[in-house]
Amino acid sequence: MRVSTLILLSLFEGTSWAFNHHAYGNGGPGFPFPHKNAGHGPSDGQECSFGSYKGKVDVLGSSFSISNSKGQDVWTTSTERAFISASSGLANQTDSSGNFEIRSDNISAPCKSPQMQAYRTAPELLVIDGNFADGACSALSWSISFSSSSKDGEGLVFDATIIGGNVDNIYLAFESPKEEAFFGLGEQAGIGNLRGYRIPFWTREGGVGRGEEPVTSYLNSNRSISGTFAGGSALTSYTAIASYATSIGRYFVLNGWNYALFDLASGKTDPFTDTAETELSGEIAAGDKSDTSTTVIEVMYEGSTMSGTVGCKDAMLDAITSLTQVSGRQPALPDWAFDGAVLGIQGGQEKVERIIQTSLHYGMPLVGVWLQDWSGTRLQAGMYNISLSRLWWNWEPDMTLYPTWADWVPHLLDTYQVRTMSYVNTFLANVTNKPTGFNRNFFLEATESGRFVQNATANDGSTWTITSGPGIDAGLLDISNTTTVAWFKDLIKTQFYSVPIKGMMQDFGEYLAVDSSVALTNGQGITPREFHNEYPGAWARLLREVTEELGLGDDSIGFHRSANTFSAAHTNLFWVGDQDINFSRLDGMRAVISSSIHVGVSGFGQAHSDVGGYTNTLAPTFNITRTPPLLGRWGEMAALSAATFRTHEGNIPSVNTQVYSNETTYLYHTYNARMYAVLKPYRKMAIQEYQEKGWPLVRHPIVYAGGDVAASKIIDESYFFGGAMLVAPVYDPAEQTLDVYLPDIGPGYVYTHVWSGETFYGGSNVTVDAPYGKPGVFLRTPLSAEETEALSGFMEFVEQEKGATLSVA
Ligand SMILES: *[C@@H]1O[C@H](CO)[C@@H](O)[C@H](O)[C@H]1NC(C)=O
Ligand SMILES: *[C@@H]1O[C@H](CO)[C@@H](O)[C@H](O)[C@H]1NC(C)=O
Ligand SMILES: *[C@@H]1O[C@H](CO)[C@@H](O)[C@H](O)[C@H]1NC(C)=O
Ligand SMILES: *[C@@H]1O[C@H](CO)[C@@H](O)[C@H](O)[C@H]1NC(C)=O
Ligand SMILES: *[C@@H]1O[C@H](CO)[C@@H](O)[C@H](O)[C@H]1NC(C)=O
Ligand SMILES: *[C@@H]1O[C@H](CO)[C@@H](O)[C@H](O)[C@H]1NC(C)=O
Ligand SMILES: *[C@@H]1O[C@H](CO)[C@@H](O)[C@H](O)[C@H]1NC(C)=O
Ligand SMILES: *[C@@H]1O[C@H](CO)[C@@H](O)[C@H](O)[C@H]1NC(C)=O
Ligand SMILES: *[C@@H]1O[C@H](CO)[C@@H](O)[C@H](O)[C@H]1NC(C)=O
Ligand SMILES: *[C@@H]1O[C@H](CO)[C@@H](O)[C@H](O)[C@H]1NC(C)=O
Ligand SMILES: *[C@@H]1O[C@H](CO)[C@@H](O)[C@H](O)[C@H]1NC(C)=O
Repeated sequence: MRVSTLILLSLFEGTSWAFNHHAYGNGGPGFPFPHKNAGHGPSDGQECSFGSYKGKVDVLGSSFSISNSKGQDVWTTSTERAFISASSGLANQTDSSGNFEIRSDNISAPCKSPQMQAYRTAPELLVIDGNFADGACSALSWSISFSSSSKDGEGLVFDATIIGGNVDNIYLAFESPKEEAFFGLGEQAGIGNLRGYRIPFWTREGGVGRGEEPVTSYLNSNRSISGTFAGGSALTSYTAIASYATSIGRYFVLNGWNYALFDLASGKTDPFTDTAETELSGEIAAGDKSDTSTTVIEVMYEGSTMSGTVGCKDAMLDAITSLTQVSGRQPALPDWAFDGAVLGIQGGQEKVERIIQTSLHYGMPLVGVWLQDWSGTRLQAGMYNISLSRLWWNWEPDMTLYPTWADWVPHLLDTYQVRTMSYVNTFLANVTNKPTGFNRNFFLEATESGRFVQNATANDGSTWTITSGPGIDAGLLDISNTTTVAWFKDLIKTQFYSVPIKGMMQDFGEYLAVDSSVALTNGQGITPREFHNEYPGAWARLLREVTEELGLGDDSIGFHRSANTFSAAHTNLFWVGDQDINFSRLDGMRAVISSSIHVGVSGFGQAHSDVGGYTNTLAPTFNITRTPPLLGRWGEMAALSAATFRTHEGNIPSVNTQVYSNETTYLYHTYNARMYAVLKPYRKMAIQEYQEKGWPLVRHPIVYAGGDVAASKIIDESYFFGGAMLVAPVYDPAEQTLDVYLPDIGPGYVYTHVWSGETFYGGSNVTVDAPYGKPGVFLRTPLSAEETEALSGFMEFVEQEKGATLSVA
């Protein structure tokens, strides 16, 4: 991916040079470049231009700035932090069942004093070279190049290298004005503007609680429950996505998969360490936040080179367009997905068919069922002798639950027009003792043919065994090996798509550990440490290739929670992972909105959640279980935000309210599914905007309310769904009214509250009725003719339902 600056240089004629006489004396030993533009004062930099960019380089003062053709600042060095530096020592990512805990106390203090020696320009290139004044780093030199030939046509490609010495990490820093607000870096849950945080780039389990108490401490304090650091922190994320866009229209995309740390003006210099602490009673995710007043962004990348693309556009949405031109966009979803609900059900053919019939009886628009237990349910011991429902990771239909799978799946389609989705991951479990039997034991087949990541400690070709909670052990497929990729693609074609399923949950991708006990077999020397963040990308690519090779790409849905910077193009649906089954901001229902906002800025604009949440926790002093209001309110929110509308039963289905619990729950979910379906034309319009311009379905209000300070502080209280609808979900089980701040989106617009018809000015707090079924929905008024048309079905629904009441009892 990286193009050597030396090679680039030789491509350009007319190179010009400037030098720092202090650093090099008269031209410098071994620096065979001509000698121009020298002799300027230390503070007034030399102007230069390359491509459409203008640079100002002050060699003596060791600073530079780069602006685009509109004069917008793209990269300006800071006086607060070295613009380039290096350190030695690796960050430590301790693994425990996919829960990685990051510590950086083993990284040396970085060099602090880069000094420039010379710069040179070519038609599309600026190159700056130098060394370090710090004694400890005096053996190192560095080079940064900026090229105006980016993938999106307008960005600036940067490429920095540290030369010589024992360098483990490279850092680049630049100025950020105080008001610049940051969004993206993949899935970030519970946080709005990311300014002030240090955000690690590392795919891992998202954590259970993530700072919300008491569950986080319960899990983090006792490793025998779910493994070390299973509670996670505000910064634990399934994704490793190193791209962001900002409120002033700037964007940044980092190349590569090595560990990175984004310091978004935290001002901190102490080693980054994961912490689950929260402030303000869990309302604000602390993680690593500082109340910063600094104006410097610093990105650390493991290695001695770092490259990527930056740029500045007029507005944040335009920045997202450019960002997604660089990193890629998700393929289209099938049209049928927008017609109604996908019900997540477990329990076998009879139960599933009965629920389909009952749902249709209630008039639920139902497009599919998602049956994660198609390969069998595996009970995992839990508190109170209540078992967790996990799955048998052996990819064939379970003979007891789904005895006639191959005939039954087409039967559901023919009889009810209900599509079936199943489940896959990159683990295989030993099914020798599976109580309901098996035809093939893929774990043994994979063991015999050497398909798994290997145990380097044993060093005898044996499998590196992962544990997904107590009692669930499996091998992890080594998809860094191309023959294993081909083997698994064939397996998926025969075991999954020989039956006309319409997609899958494509789970996990985060578990490859990076310590000395792990070995990959790819013959290319790629280490686990280098492959860790690429694993989710390779996983998504493998599955997308299968559907494309079978001609099913446009008629199936593959949903992932793990991802990396460039994997959007390989997955048509992102799923925001496992939320706690409550309203919590850090890890419950609210977290869906913050997650969707950030992952959407990073290019995954087609996202959705498990309606009702996933993670139950039964503990000695508290239980997290699903109540009817939670399922109902979550369904409302999904109807008004998600790309697809899918439920999950949760990991202990028996303690949760389910869509199919009784008439009350059927009626509420049917209502929500209808609300989802009537929004099809509007949802498709928003999705079209994503496909063409990269704009996500769920948008932080700041994209329309740039100058509004109050709007910039929104985390999950409200969001724009597409361009015309402001939504404020109800995050309280009992609340029947809603207090919400309406962002100031400029004169000429008001907000119309759909259920009452009342209009409100932006920039104000309002209180509206929000009984069950009627969360805060405000249309930005006036609408365009196209928006009015796309929303007409929804407005008919509103007219019809505004007097109706829903029950949760
Ligand atoms: C610190 O990093 C070095 C490699 O730079 C490694 O050998 C050592 O094990 C690390 N120590 C700790 C405590 O992480
Ligand atoms: C990371 O830290 C753990 C726990 O202190 C230690 O056992 C391990 O050797 C360290 N790993 C590396 C790569 O430094
Ligand atoms: C830790 O959890 C295990 C398994 O649930 C339990 O048996 C043990 O008592 C717990 N230990 C503490 C100190 O709470
Ligand atoms: C736990 O449940 C199993 C079956 O679900 C039952 O056989 C067993 O007696 C129960 N154990 C306790 C201690 O309640
Ligand atoms: C698979 O499980 C069976 C039954 O527990 C055990 O005997 C066998 O050794 C396991 N195979 C491998 C390769 O671990
Ligand atoms: C790897 O092998 C060693 C030595 O046989 C064993 O102690 C360890 O548990 C194995 N680790 C994993 C993750 O399979
Ligand atoms: C990939 O895995 C296969 C099966 O274990 C092995 O035979 C092959 O050598 C591996 N490929 C490379 C390039 O290492
Ligand atoms: C989430 O569940 C935990 C455990 O029951 C509880 O303490 C916490 O207050 C809940 N959070 C919300 C927002 O409901
Ligand atoms: C949690 O649920 C278990 C099992 O139903 C029950 O025995 C226990 O009393 C509950 N605990 C709390 C605090 O509600
Ligand atoms: C329906 O089921 C939910 C969840 O179990 C329960 O809370 C509610 O009381 C039930 N309603 C009726 C009418 O049975
Ligand atoms: C809206 O309410 C918030 C929270 O109570 C308050 O801080 C803010 O000043 C209010 N804004 C306006 C415009 O009234």
